Amino acid sequence: MAATIVIFGASGDLTGRKLIPALYQLFRKGRLSSPLNIVGVSRTKFSHDEWRTELATSTEKFAGDSFDQEKWAQFAERIYYQPGDIGQAEDFAALAKFVDEIEGGESGTRIYYLSTAPRFYLPAVEHLGQAGMACETNGPRRVVIEKPFGRDLKSAKELNKAVHEVFAEHQVYRIDHYLGKETVQNLLVLRFGNTIFEPIWNRNYIDHVQITVAEEVEVGSRAGYYDSAGVVRDMVQNHLLQLLMVTAMEAPVRYEADAIRNEKVKVLHAIRPLDAEQVRTDTFRGQYRGYTASEGVKPTSRTPTFAALKLGIDNWRWQGVPFYLRSGKAMSCRTTQIVIQFYAPPQKLFVDTPTGLGEANRLVIQVQPAEGIQLHFQTKVPDAGMRMRQTDLNFNYQKEFRGVMPEAYERLLLDALEGDASLFARADEVEAAWKICDPILEAWEAKDKPTLFMYDPGFWGPEECLDWMTAQGRQWFDTC
Ligand code: BG6
Repeated sequence: MAATIVIFGASGDLTGRKLIPALYQLFRKGRLSSPLNIVGVSRTKFSHDEWRTELATSTEKFAGDSFDQEKWAQFAERIYYQPGDIGQAEDFAALAKFVDEIEGGESGTRIYYLSTAPRFYLPAVEHLGQAGMACETNGPRRVVIEKPFGRDLKSAKELNKAVHEVFAEHQVYRIDHYLGKETVQNLLVLRFGNTIFEPIWNRNYIDHVQITVAEEVEVGSRAGYYDSAGVVRDMVQNHLLQLLMVTAMEAPVRYEADAIRNEKVKVLHAIRPLDAEQVRTDTFRGQYRGYTASEGVKPTSRTPTFAALKLGIDNWRWQGVPFYLRSGKAMSCRTTQIVIQFYAPPQKLFVDTPTGLGEANRLVIQVQPAEGIQLHFQTKVPDAGMRMRQTDLNFNYQKEFRGVMPEAYERLLLDALEGDASLFARADEVEAAWKICDPILEAWEAKDKPTLFMYDPGFWGPEECLDWMTAQGRQWFDTC
């Protein structure tokens, strides 16, 4: 029996750049367990063929060498387009009829993918409900909701409530594409598929953790959205906190959606919310020079494009271990990395034994690009007495496994089709993440807000942020 995915926001950027190329790759690799109908919905008037032609062009661009005309033609046979306005209930009645028709009365799994501006999430969900499209009598019905899920705790709660009036929680898949990245899932394998890391993965051995998501790109064509969001809503509330949760969580009792999400949520609950004073001392906001000249940005905009925060986790494993989170646009290079900084040895036995953190053991999980893991440690320099030097063990995905890393959306779309929500955020998880971000946003948006430090594009954020770290006896590890 065929499955169907209905994509709302069909003419949008995400559909052409990520969703369709990912579905095509799943088809090309033979990963789909049943035939897949794709129905695009948006207000633009397209015929089925016009939309197929558009998608062929964008998929060829993003799939590169793996694009195969013949495979595409087979894949495109089941691509359809249905014009519709999310605000119009009658368009959903027509959509329900159309989907029934192409399914030929044999309904399998259906996914409704909301790849629209967030203001359309509510009407889309409401109208799906009214059209009877959420009802699971004829097969599973799931809704995939893109980020941002709300813009603060209050709006996220309202959205959860409205979604739950139509879909039960097991039908809701809140997507965070960082969880679809191979290296993020590998962090679970590194920690819980090996024995040697867990015993030292705690306050007894670890001085601090750094999580950096640096982007080289500026805001570009998304400036309109970005200017009203800023870095905390765009990156910290979701991607950075997801990386933190996977780094800090306890082992789940089994590899299953709720067991994993229970452990992740516990981490968020254990994070000490910052009060107004701590927001001043433990967070940092910056904006790159030239941001306000971008099209779509207010010339007087104070929206931060860079953030650094220090968070503490109140539990037995992490008490006293700071987690430094940092993200920015227009930075030196594109890199996402998690640095586990271990303590220096307790005794200076050799002349070069590290006493400071700079030369102490460090585990670097390189999430992207150059995906891999490096372990830094001291080695005796040959023929030089007992002199030492820092060296590293370097695991690189590309060298080890060859081939191209799959796009995060491939994994996540496949999981949504198969009903595995392990890599999707649960309602309580997004709310708990907002609970951490709300006080920061409130203080940053208050009248007496902390300084907005400026930085030049191509740097690691404001210089003052480097000094802030140095003042704490630590340094950022910046590797491009
Ligand atoms: C998105 C943000 O969620 O993630 C963007 O909205 C950001 O601002 C993007 O550029 C980064 O994703 P990736 O996978 O390129 O690191």
